[in-house]
Amino acid sequence: MSAMQGGLSFGLYAHITGWGKALPERVVTNDELAQIVDTSDEWIRTRTGIRQRRVAVDPSETSATLGAKAARAALEVADIPASKVDMIICATSSPEHIFPSTACVIQDLIGAVNAGAFDISAACSGFVYGLGLAKGLIASGQAETILVIGTETLSRIVDWSDRNTCVLFGDGAGAVVVQASPVPGGILTTEMGCDGSGGDLLSLPAGGSKMPATLETVASGQHFIKMNGRAVFRFATRVMADATRRVLDKAGLGIDDVDLVIPHQANERIIAVSMRHLGLPDEKVFRNLQYYGNTSTASIPIALTEAIEQGLVKPSDVLVMVGFGAGLTWAGAAIQWGVPTQEKEAPFWRASQRAAMYNLARARSQLMRISRRLEGSLITEEGDTLTEVVGKRLDELRKSKKEGEKEEPAEKEEQGGSGEQ
Ligand code: ACO
Repeated sequence: MSAMQGGLSFGLYAHITGWGKALPERVVTNDELAQIVDTSDEWIRTRTGIRQRRVAVDPSETSATLGAKAARAALEVADIPASKVDMIICATSSPEHIFPSTACVIQDLIGAVNAGAFDISAACSGFVYGLGLAKGLIASGQAETILVIGTETLSRIVDWSDRNTCVLFGDGAGAVVVQASPVPGGILTTEMGCDGSGGDLLSLPAGGSKMPATLETVASGQHFIKMNGRAVFRFATRVMADATRRVLDKAGLGIDDVDLVIPHQANERIIAVSMRHLGLPDEKVFRNLQYYGNTSTASIPIALTEAIEQGLVKPSDVLVMVGFGAGLTWAGAAIQWGVPTQEKEAPFWRASQRAAMYNLARARSQLMRISRRLEGSLITEEGDTLTEVVGKRLDELRKSKKEGEKEEPAEKEEQGGSGEQ
């Protein structure tokens, strides 16, 4: 049952209707890493399952540009314009800045002019937290079309001289469009948890308000990821299984109802151990970490997109997405897939229409920036700019000069008259 609330419908279902990914071009192999730290392809493969990762080597490629690319791909699949999005939820562990949020930068890049936007900081669990929020916003009638994005440039916060961490992470982005629908299904239940007592096991110590960036923090590498790998491993294998069970319980489903689990792609051994605890066969568990490493918030939406590309998701399937991360956090979502996943043939003009829309968004953004810069030169309380003030002064001068010229002959006449007297 749905009712209207403030113009939007209350009590609707939240369906994933679009999906997409974006990955930097540059592939970095384990052998390449073995040239910069004391490691080997064999060690990385056997301990983690990772063979290679993508790294954003071009400085102009950022968490926001990757996120925007993935978002555009997801909008294309959903076949909706960016102007229809009313909320952007961006999960990231490598935001462009503390503020503005990466979500706001993406909003501007894609021209989602009618959207609110904010970031979630829940580390690798962030994307699934985002799905939980999207479901809540839709069910409560506060939004209809939401972009949930996971995006990372972890290579910029990884210490490339620390073999304990640098072999694990990669860059990339994934995004989904979540839309309100009267059709039952979609995101059925979510589970979001945390245990802050484990915060020190995985952290980026400096650069926040507790330890602001200084020459010393930079010199001692406190602005890089620090991790106690073994402790995180133990935590991860326990919570991945627990969160999967709990989210299925909430949905009234059992392990046997699950068609595909899309786990956070951190470590092959973590996935194997936790899925074994659940009694899930290998073919029901999606993996692509061998190609991308741990892309934190982006790992689940990238994996979902690739599972769909490989024909592993179809309408009515029950999916579980489950992750863990710094915080410590964990999150799970049970989803009953509701839309066709075969590629649709788009009308021939759609691509150029989209390109025009994004060009327009770019032009609009530039215009807004220029007009704000001009406004920035306001120097009076009446809102006058420097040029306006100078212009007004010149006008006043011109006016007073003219008045002076008008008065002059009369004065002369007066002076002449008095002379005649
Ligand atoms: N190459 C070679 N040797 C290494 C490397 C490496 N890259 N890294 C560590 N080693 C060494 C260690 O120094 C240690 O040597 P020692 O025995 O002489 O001390 C040895 O290998 C074994 O180390 P362990 O830590 O016991 O290795 P383990 O089998 O636990 O694997 C790993 C380490 C891969 C980090 C694992 O613990 C893990 O995956 N943990 C979870 C990490 C994770 O998923 N983090 C991301 C969370 S998501 C987020 O929020 C970002």
